[in-house]
Amino acid sequence: MVILVTGGAGYIGSHTCLELLNDGHEVIVLDNLYNSSPKSLERVEILSNKKIKFYRGDILDKNLLSKIFAENKIDSVIHFAGLKAVGESVEKPLEYYENNIGGTIALLKSMRENDVKSIIFSSSATVYGVPDRSPIKEEDHKKDCAHPYGWTKSMLEQILFDLYNSDNSWNVIVLRYFNPIGAHKSGLIGEDPTGIPNNLMPYITQVASGKLKELGVFGNDYNTPDGTGVRDYIHVVDLARGHVKALAKIKEDCGLKIYNLGRGKGESVLDIVKSFERANGIKIPYSIKPRRPGDIDSYYCDPSKAERELGWKAEYDIETMCRDSWNWQKNNPNGYR
Ligand code: NAD
Ligand code: UD1
Repeated sequence: MVILVTGGAGYIGSHTCLELLNDGHEVIVLDNLYNSSPKSLERVEILSNKKIKFYRGDILDKNLLSKIFAENKIDSVIHFAGLKAVGESVEKPLEYYENNIGGTIALLKSMRENDVKSIIFSSSATVYGVPDRSPIKEEDHKKDCAHPYGWTKSMLEQILFDLYNSDNSWNVIVLRYFNPIGAHKSGLIGEDPTGIPNNLMPYITQVASGKLKELGVFGNDYNTPDGTGVRDYIHVVDLARGHVKALAKIKEDCGLKIYNLGRGKGESVLDIVKSFERANGIKIPYSIKPRRPGDIDSYYCDPSKAERELGWKAEYDIETMCRDSWNWQKNNPNGYR
């Protein structure tokens, strides 16, 4: 199939482009490089020995979207493009709503105009808010989100549901990611955060490399076995492969579908620290800090619907995720720069 990947130069997008090329798809990327480097795509080309057609530009640019649809016979869109920094979204809500929601509406309108009615959308576990239970199932109620970033995901899901209800000829797959970490085993592509990382794994790898002094563990008084926050970590390559499986599903005219993509297992902050130390033989100094506002104690998903309906299951374990994250950081101390 010919796939337009928005945000394809980013962390999850680049890993997905590689899996798509390896599966024989043709890949076209649209990315404004706001949070990524074109080097990620060059490296995907090296790893796959295949070419990517790259458009540098914005999903808000209607003329560019028309040009892309006119120049290519696109079968389906995988839509990663969006801003994702939780703290920044609290400071700049209008920019987040404009980029994520305005951008997605522009994309959907252009898709409709060009009769490309097939989209896989990057949603997030954040739409479950503070869940009533774990493992979380897809039918569990969505809740209030703790930040504008989360609301953009929740609202975009609703926009896609309404669009599908207005016109059943669309095929829409919403993928709710849990916590992606890790990197391709080559160490050539990986997560490249700007500034001090907000998320756990990039923070740990920068402590391991000596860039940061110690990890601050945000709270050890949660209602979890060791008191630190529990999450469902998933290898980014497993997540990328979930998109390839979703494409096969969308080809069958699947209508509207929602899937959790996670491992279905909860790991605490201290579990991750210990796994990282074991996998890489590096000590991670840490100290306990106050809770981070907006954090919740524990959640993990039930991924069985994706296994049943997509034939997808996460394969990699936590130590592999820790080893691959470190391999990427060690080989690219300054990311793609
Ligand atoms: P990322 O920032 O690495 O990738 C997003 C890409 O989109 C970047 O390359 C950025 O330059 C591009 N982009 C942003 N706005 C754009 C615009 N207006 N036009 C064109 N390109 C634009 O993020 P990621 O971690 O790869 O996440 C990909 C998607 O998955 C995002 O939608 C994110 O919200 C979602 N998601 C990520 C996580 C996570 O933990 N990483 C979890 C759940 C959901
Ligand atoms: C965060 C976002 C979430 C978003 C996801 C992916 C918040 C509140 N949530 O999820 O909306 O979808 O990223 O971008 O920001 N931790 C530490 N020390 C650190 C960093 C993290 O102890 O330096 C802990 C956190 O408290 C949490 C766990 O590690 O318990 C994972 O944190 P993180 O990687 O930031 O992911 P989430 O908070 O799950």
